Amino acid sequence: MNFNLENHVHISFDAISINEGFARMTVAAFMSDMNPTLEQICDVKTAVSEAVTNAIIHGYGAGWIGQDAESNGQSAENKSLQVEMVCSRSGNRLEIQIIDQGVGIENVDQARAPFYTTKREQERSGMGFAFMEAFMDELSVESELGKGTRVTMIKYIDGGNEQ
Ligand SMILES: Nc1ncnc2c1ncn2[C@@H]1O[C@H](COP(=O)(O)OP(=O)(O)OP(=O)(O)O)[C@@H](O)[C@H]1O
Ligand SMILES: [Mg+2]
Repeated sequence: MNFNLENHVHISFDAISINEGFARMTVAAFMSDMNPTLEQICDVKTAVSEAVTNAIIHGYGAGWIGQDAESNGQSAENKSLQVEMVCSRSGNRLEIQIIDQGVGIENVDQARAPFYTTKREQERSGMGFAFMEAFMDELSVESELGKGTRVTMIKYIDGGNEQ
């Protein structure tokens, strides 16, 4: 394994729910040559899907039922809204940024608290940020009302499947 390898990938995709799966698979592919364990891959995929879901449903306020897109606000106009994913690797350090240019978060500390949600009526549990924090080594959230949100997550792929 080349411990000094640097690699950066920047992807932009439509803010529609099917792209949550795309983001999960892409990050798994990106980290595959870091020789991660299955558990490490699952952790990162889960954190990425929470952040991407948040960008789509909270940032852009889009509906979240793929099969019934038209009736859930996932109309054509949402397709021009973009979520960006930046994957960076430096040695065993994996950094993922999920960026939207949506409504932003008024109080980030409050939003990050477990069980806090502004969409209780949609049966959201308010655990997305708590999962990101639990599954990654570091989490930072930068947000500005009306401008958008950038979630940065770092995980060290130590003790993976060394070859
Ligand atoms: N990208 C974002 N843009 C705007 N608001 C956000 C964004 N991400 C999170 N939030 C706000 O932070 C709150 C907490 O997010 P979190 O992911 O922890 O819970 P949730 O999405 O409401 O529920 P769950 O993730 O359990 O389905 C959200 O309810 C929303 O108000
Ligand atoms: Mg969430």
